Amino acid sequence: MANRIAERFHRQVFDALYNSSLVYNACWEDPACDRAALELGGDDRVLVITSGGCNALDYLLCAPARVHAVDANPRQTALLELKAAGIRALDHDDFWLLFGEGRHPDFPALYRRHLRPQLTAFARAWWDRRQHWFAGDGWCDSFYFRGLSGLVARAMRTFIDRRKGLRPAVGAMLDAPTLEDQRMVYDREVAPRLWTPGLRWAVSRRTTLSLLGVPHEQTLEVARAHEQGVAGFVRASIERVFRELPLRDNYFWQVYVHGAYRRDCCPEYLKPAEFARLKAGLIDRLELHTATVTATLRGLAGRGEPVTRFVLLDHMDWMGASRPDLLAEEWDAIHASAGRGARAIFRSAHADAAYLAAVRLGLRGRQVPLTELLAFRRELAAELHRRDRVGTYGGFHIADLVAA
Ligand SMILES: C[S@@+](CC[C@H](N)C(=O)[O-])C[C@H]1O[C@@H](n2cnc3c(N)ncnc32)[C@H](O)[C@@H]1O
Repeated sequence: MANRIAERFHRQVFDALYNSSLVYNACWEDPACDRAALELGGDDRVLVITSGGCNALDYLLCAPARVHAVDANPRQTALLELKAAGIRALDHDDFWLLFGEGRHPDFPALYRRHLRPQLTAFARAWWDRRQHWFAGDGWCDSFYFRGLSGLVARAMRTFIDRRKGLRPAVGAMLDAPTLEDQRMVYDREVAPRLWTPGLRWAVSRRTTLSLLGVPHEQTLEVARAHEQGVAGFVRASIERVFRELPLRDNYFWQVYVHGAYRRDCCPEYLKPAEFARLKAGLIDRLELHTATVTATLRGLAGRGEPVTRFVLLDHMDWMGASRPDLLAEEWDAIHASAGRGARAIFRSAHADAAYLAAVRLGLRGRQVPLTELLAFRRELAAELHRRDRVGTYGGFHIADLVAA
């Protein structure tokens, strides 16, 4: 009984936060792995979940025919709208200050003159009240400390600054010239100072996970992925990244420690040459949707536009074992709108997305297990997963859609 009350409480906390906030101020999924898995060509039509919008812009640089960026949270769409407006109207110097450094002294003037006129009504109402997010002052002195994920990053920065010797140790680890040096600094200087009982307690709190956009169903998957539950999973993930992957060019972790990207360590869309290619026309191949994946695909099927690449991030964990009906609806729509040679990629908190086994699609009067319609590329996925610079997902999956 107590568990059910606690679970209902945490669901309400997550829903309240999710339905009023920008959760992701940047994508926390590695597009370099996605590109290798997607093998995008000029005829491909991509559907990707927007999140921070960085990866939708990254895929555009492969010049596919179309990128449909979809998100059920209109604030995520509003963020990608602002980025697209900036690409169309600003020069690289101004755009870099906004999304490279997360602060611009003249944002109000830029916003009023160049960005606001391009936005939808919802995005205007949202950004009109948040121009200070780019002011660069106060406790959250960068856009990358805004939104729910930004809040957690800002709190971590306070922890790092207050913990004696931790800031210089983290700095030395991030700038270590070799992986051996990085691992040594982590083992000797960072880990002993970082993993206090207080931090271990905080990372295992449901509220912390809600702030990081991890709903109840996904928390169960995270807890299932490690014998020491959520705290064990978080520590193991961070240790793998800090001990096994070079941090020097890892913009995912650098931006949340410094609140800004470096020009030689940032997403592709922020680099001058790529920014110029987007501005020169690729940005016009982007289409934004504020809706569920299912509703968007039903809309696109009506337009006779088959989709050939589906980038589903880890959102299926959000439905997981509790809503196989929603998963079946979504895969029905995916199957119905898939073009020739279609491929789907997604991530999961647990190494295997076991909940997919329960999904059945109604095809020609038969209930067909979803797994019979997916040809997984396990070796390629495992190889790319090992290189994933984010490192906080248990599994990466690449599946070609096959006929029933
Ligand atoms: C699942 S979360 C993952 C974010 C991602 N791991 C990241 O860090 O960049 C991604 C996004 O999916 C959106 N989302 C969740 N379920 C959705 C659905 N059924 N249709 C469309 N968007 C959905 C959420 O609003 C959220 O912005």
